[in-house]
Amino acid sequence: MFYTKQTLKHFRNPHNYGEIKNPDGEGEAGNIICGDLMNLYLKVKKTKNGVEIIDAVKFKTYGCAAAIATSSVITDLVKGKTVDQALKIGKKDIIDTLNGLPPIKIHCSILAIDALGEAIYQYLFKNNRPIPLSLQKTHERIEIGKKEIKERYAKWLSISKK
Ligand code: FES
Repeated sequence: MFYTKQTLKHFRNPHNYGEIKNPDGEGEAGNIICGDLMNLYLKVKKTKNGVEIIDAVKFKTYGCAAAIATSSVITDLVKGKTVDQALKIGKKDIIDTLNGLPPIKIHCSILAIDALGEAIYQYLFKNNRPIPLSLQKTHERIEIGKKEIKERYAKWLSISKK
């Protein structure tokens, strides 16, 4: 077996799977290579000290075992964090939590980071908050990738109906 025990645990019993109704931020990201998609939903709340933290997070992933495991891990990592702290989570944090990922599966962890970035982007946008330039650039890249994936699926559907 080439997945770690931690990865298999998260894949078989993913944490925070599902959807949040009326989320404060929702992000969708796709992987241009394999066509896998992930949606991530956030609820943000203010603590007694006036600090905004990510209070609830859920995900839906249509993808491989590594995509599901990394999605599960990222939801654990962002819960209770501020938006700024959540934006600092990178693929190394996810991979370390899983005690490693096969090199061929590292791109799957980026799907989770992209979906989180998109959910935060939407949250900041909806609330008229400044959006960091790096997040704006990531958003543009993800939008292009999603368009491409959706076009490929539409083409495949039209062929498969023939
Ligand atoms: S193979 Fe598509 S995200 Fe893993």
